[in-house]
Amino acid sequence: MTHILALNGSPRRNGNTETVLNAFLRGAEEAGATCETIRLSSLTFKNCLGCNACHKKGVCVITDALTEVFEKVMACDILVLASPIYSMTVTAEMKGFIDRGQFLWAQKFKTQTLVFDEEHLKNHIGVFLSTSGQGLPIMFDAAFPVVRALFNDAGFSYTENVLFAGMDEHGGVKAWPESVEEAFTRGKELVQRVNEP
Ligand SMILES: Cc1cc2nc3c(=O)[nH]c(=O)nc-3n(C[C@H](O)[C@H](O)[C@H](O)COP(=O)(O)O)c2cc1C
Repeated sequence: MTHILALNGSPRRNGNTETVLNAFLRGAEEAGATCETIRLSSLTFKNCLGCNACHKKGVCVITDALTEVFEKVMACDILVLASPIYSMTVTAEMKGFIDRGQFLWAQKFKTQTLVFDEEHLKNHIGVFLSTSGQGLPIMFDAAFPVVRALFNDAGFSYTENVLFAGMDEHGGVKAWPESVEEAFTRGKELVQRVNEP
Protein backbone atom coordinates (compact mmCIF):
# COMPACT_ATOMS: atom_id res chain seq x y z
CA MET A 1 0.00 0.00 0.00
CA THR A 2 1.24 3.49 -0.86
CA HIS A 3 2.04 5.60 2.18
CA ILE A 4 2.08 9.38 1.92
CA LEU A 5 3.78 11.72 4.35
CA ALA A 6 2.71 15.35 4.01
CA LEU A 7 4.67 18.10 5.71
CA ASN A 8 2.65 21.29 5.97
CA GLY A 9 4.79 24.42 6.19
CA SER A 10 1.86 26.82 6.52
CA PRO A 11 1.42 28.31 9.99
CA ARG A 12 -2.23 29.14 9.24
CA ARG A 13 -4.85 26.65 10.44
CA ASN A 14 -7.58 25.88 7.91
CA GLY A 15 -5.96 28.31 5.47
CA ASN A 16 -5.50 28.01 1.73
CA THR A 17 -2.61 25.55 1.82
CA GLU A 18 -4.04 23.29 4.52
CA THR A 19 -7.40 23.16 2.75
CA VAL A 20 -6.03 22.11 -0.64
CA LEU A 21 -3.53 19.77 1.01
CA ASN A 22 -6.34 18.02 2.90
CA ALA A 23 -8.29 17.68 -0.36
CA PHE A 24 -5.23 16.22 -2.13
CA LEU A 25 -4.85 13.66 0.66
CA ARG A 26 -8.56 12.79 0.67
CA GLY A 27 -8.23 12.03 -3.05
CA ALA A 28 -5.13 9.93 -2.38
CA GLU A 29 -6.94 8.01 0.35
CA GLU A 30 -9.86 7.34 -1.95
CA ALA A 31 -7.37 5.73 -4.33
CA GLY A 32 -6.12 3.49 -1.49
CA ALA A 33 -3.17 5.36 0.03
CA THR A 34 -2.53 5.82 3.73
CA CYS A 35 -1.64 9.38 4.73
CA GLU A 36 -0.04 11.20 7.63
CA THR A 37 0.24 14.98 7.90
CA ILE A 38 2.69 16.84 10.11
CA ARG A 39 2.30 20.58 10.69
CA LEU A 40 5.81 21.94 10.99
CA SER A 41 4.62 25.01 12.94
CA SER A 42 3.34 22.76 15.72
CA LEU A 43 6.81 21.28 16.27
CA THR A 44 9.71 22.70 18.23
CA PHE A 45 12.93 22.37 16.28
CA LYS A 46 16.23 24.12 15.80
CA ASN A 47 17.60 25.51 12.57
CA CYS A 48 20.76 24.00 11.08
CA LEU A 49 23.81 25.21 13.00
CA GLY A 50 26.12 24.99 10.00
CA CYS A 51 28.61 23.10 12.18
CA ASN A 52 29.32 20.64 9.34
CA ALA A 53 29.67 17.77 11.84
CA CYS A 54 27.46 15.72 9.49
CA HIS A 55 30.20 15.94 6.87
CA LYS A 56 32.32 13.57 9.00
CA LYS A 57 29.75 11.10 10.34
CA GLY A 58 26.64 11.74 8.27
CA VAL A 59 24.64 12.38 11.45
CA CYS A 60 23.09 15.63 12.69
CA VAL A 61 24.28 16.78 16.13
CA ILE A 62 20.77 18.06 16.92
CA THR A 63 18.14 15.73 18.35
CA ASP A 64 14.67 17.26 18.41
CA ALA A 65 11.24 16.91 16.81
CA LEU A 66 12.71 16.79 13.31
CA THR A 67 14.72 13.66 14.13
CA GLU A 68 11.53 11.56 14.02
CA VAL A 69 10.18 13.52 11.06
CA PHE A 70 13.24 12.58 8.99
CA GLU A 71 12.76 8.91 9.99
CA LYS A 72 9.22 9.16 8.62
CA VAL A 73 10.45 10.91 5.47
CA MET A 74 12.80 8.02 4.74
CA ALA A 75 10.01 5.46 5.31
CA CYS A 76 7.25 6.92 3.10
CA ASP A 77 6.54 6.28 -0.60
CA ILE A 78 5.27 9.74 -1.51
CA LEU A 79 6.51 12.87 0.22
CA VAL A 80 4.37 16.00 -0.08
CA LEU A 81 6.06 19.27 0.82
CA ALA A 82 3.24 21.79 1.22
CA SER A 83 3.86 25.49 1.71
CA PRO A 84 2.33 28.82 0.83
CA ILE A 85 4.63 31.30 -0.91
CA TYR A 86 6.11 33.73 1.56
CA SER A 87 8.34 36.45 0.11
CA MET A 88 8.73 34.53 -3.15
CA THR A 89 9.62 31.12 -1.70
CA VAL A 90 8.59 28.55 0.93
CA THR A 91 7.86 29.55 4.53
CA ALA A 92 10.55 29.76 7.20
CA GLU A 93 9.16 26.56 8.76
CA MET A 94 9.64 24.64 5.52
CA LYS A 95 13.06 26.14 4.81
CA GLY A 96 14.16 25.28 8.36
CA PHE A 97 13.13 21.67 7.79
CA ILE A 98 14.90 21.51 4.42
CA ASP A 99 18.13 22.96 5.82
CA ARG A 100 18.10 20.29 8.52
CA GLY A 101 18.16 17.70 5.72
CA GLN A 102 21.78 18.65 5.11
CA PHE A 103 22.87 15.44 6.89
CA LEU A 104 21.32 13.48 4.01
CA TRP A 105 23.35 15.51 1.51
CA ALA A 106 26.42 14.72 3.66
CA GLN A 107 25.59 10.99 3.64
CA LYS A 108 25.38 11.09 -0.15
CA PHE A 109 28.38 13.23 -0.99
CA LYS A 110 30.69 13.26 2.05
CA THR A 111 30.46 9.92 3.88
CA GLN A 112 29.02 8.25 0.76
CA THR A 113 26.82 6.00 2.87
CA LEU A 114 23.51 6.86 1.17
CA VAL A 115 22.83 5.60 -2.35
CA PHE A 116 19.46 5.44 -4.11
CA ASP A 117 19.20 3.02 -7.02
CA GLU A 118 16.93 3.53 -10.01
CA GLU A 119 14.24 1.25 -8.56
CA HIS A 120 14.09 3.32 -5.36
CA LEU A 121 13.84 6.57 -7.32
CA LYS A 122 11.10 5.11 -9.51
CA ASN A 123 9.05 4.18 -6.45
CA HIS A 124 9.52 7.32 -4.37
CA ILE A 125 7.71 10.42 -5.58
CA GLY A 126 8.14 14.01 -4.41
CA VAL A 127 5.17 16.37 -4.61
CA PHE A 128 5.34 20.13 -4.08
CA LEU A 129 1.94 21.58 -3.18
CA SER A 130 1.72 25.34 -2.90
CA THR A 131 -0.55 28.37 -2.92
CA SER A 132 0.34 31.97 -3.68
CA GLY A 133 -1.50 35.24 -3.18
CA GLN A 134 -0.68 36.75 -6.55
CA GLY A 135 -1.76 35.17 -9.80
CA LEU A 136 1.52 35.21 -11.68
CA PRO A 137 2.79 31.66 -12.30
CA ILE A 138 6.38 32.87 -11.68
CA MET A 139 5.46 33.21 -7.99
CA PHE A 140 6.60 29.60 -7.46
CA ASP A 141 9.88 29.83 -9.38
CA ALA A 142 12.13 30.50 -6.40
CA ALA A 143 10.54 27.66 -4.40
CA PHE A 144 11.15 24.92 -6.99
CA PRO A 145 14.93 24.56 -6.49
CA VAL A 146 14.51 24.74 -2.69
CA VAL A 147 12.16 21.75 -2.50
CA ARG A 148 14.15 19.95 -5.20
CA ALA A 149 17.20 20.08 -2.92
CA LEU A 150 15.37 18.07 -0.23
CA PHE A 151 13.73 15.66 -2.67
CA ASN A 152 17.10 14.91 -4.27
CA ASP A 153 18.88 14.39 -0.96
CA ALA A 154 16.11 12.18 0.46
CA GLY A 155 15.75 9.98 -2.65
CA PHE A 156 12.46 11.20 -4.14
CA SER A 157 11.81 11.76 -7.84
CA TYR A 158 10.40 15.28 -7.90
CA THR A 159 7.76 14.90 -10.59
CA GLU A 160 4.64 16.63 -9.26
CA ASN A 161 3.73 20.27 -8.69
CA VAL A 162 0.24 20.97 -7.37
CA LEU A 163 0.05 24.75 -7.54
CA PHE A 164 -2.71 27.26 -6.96
CA ALA A 165 -1.62 30.76 -7.93
CA GLY A 166 -3.76 33.80 -7.18
CA MET A 167 -5.46 32.88 -3.90
CA ASP A 168 -5.78 36.57 -2.99
CA GLU A 169 -7.33 37.39 -6.37
CA HIS A 170 -9.81 34.53 -5.94
CA GLY A 171 -10.71 35.69 -2.43
CA GLY A 172 -9.10 32.67 -0.76
CA VAL A 173 -9.72 28.96 -1.02
CA LYS A 174 -13.28 29.13 0.31
CA ALA A 175 -14.28 31.37 -2.60
CA TRP A 176 -12.47 29.10 -5.06
CA PRO A 177 -13.96 25.60 -4.63
CA GLU A 178 -12.51 24.50 -7.99
CA SER A 179 -9.05 24.55 -6.39
CA VAL A 180 -10.20 22.05 -3.76
CA GLU A 181 -11.78 19.81 -6.40
CA GLU A 182 -8.64 19.94 -8.51
CA ALA A 183 -6.43 19.08 -5.52
CA PHE A 184 -8.66 16.09 -4.72
CA THR A 185 -8.43 14.85 -8.32
CA ARG A 186 -4.65 15.33 -8.44
CA GLY A 187 -4.20 13.27 -5.26
CA LYS A 188 -6.45 10.51 -6.50
CA GLU A 189 -4.87 10.37 -9.95
CA LEU A 190 -1.33 10.31 -8.59
CA VAL A 191 -2.00 7.28 -6.38
CA GLN A 192 -3.89 5.51 -9.17
CA ARG A 193 -0.91 6.11 -11.47
CA VAL A 194 1.61 4.90 -8.89
CA ASN A 195 -0.39 1.71 -8.34
CA GLU A 196 -0.83 0.90 -12.03
CA PRO A 197 0.63 -2.53 -12.77
C1 LIG B 1 4.47 36.83 5.13
C2 LIG B 1 3.75 36.57 3.84
C3 LIG B 1 4.43 36.70 2.66
C4 LIG B 1 3.77 36.46 1.43
N1 LIG B 1 4.49 36.57 0.27
C5 LIG B 1 3.88 36.34 -0.91
C6 LIG B 1 4.61 36.45 -2.15
O1 LIG B 1 5.80 36.73 -2.19
N2 LIG B 1 3.94 36.19 -3.30
C7 LIG B 1 2.61 35.84 -3.32
O2 LIG B 1 2.07 35.62 -4.40
N3 LIG B 1 1.90 35.72 -2.16
C8 LIG B 1 2.51 35.96 -0.97
N4 LIG B 1 1.80 35.81 0.21
C9 LIG B 1 0.38 35.36 0.14
C10 LIG B 1 0.25 33.84 0.42
O3 LIG B 1 1.18 33.08 -0.34
C11 LIG B 1 -1.14 33.33 0.08
O4 LIG B 1 -2.13 34.12 0.65
C12 LIG B 1 -1.27 31.88 0.51
O5 LIG B 1 -2.36 31.28 -0.17
C13 LIG B 1 -1.47 31.74 2.01
O6 LIG B 1 -1.62 30.40 2.36
P1 LIG B 1 -2.12 29.95 3.83
O7 LIG B 1 -3.57 30.28 3.91
O8 LIG B 1 -1.82 28.51 3.92
O9 LIG B 1 -1.31 30.77 4.80
C14 LIG B 1 2.41 36.07 1.43
C15 LIG B 1 1.72 35.95 2.65
C16 LIG B 1 2.37 36.19 3.84
C17 LIG B 1 1.61 36.03 5.14
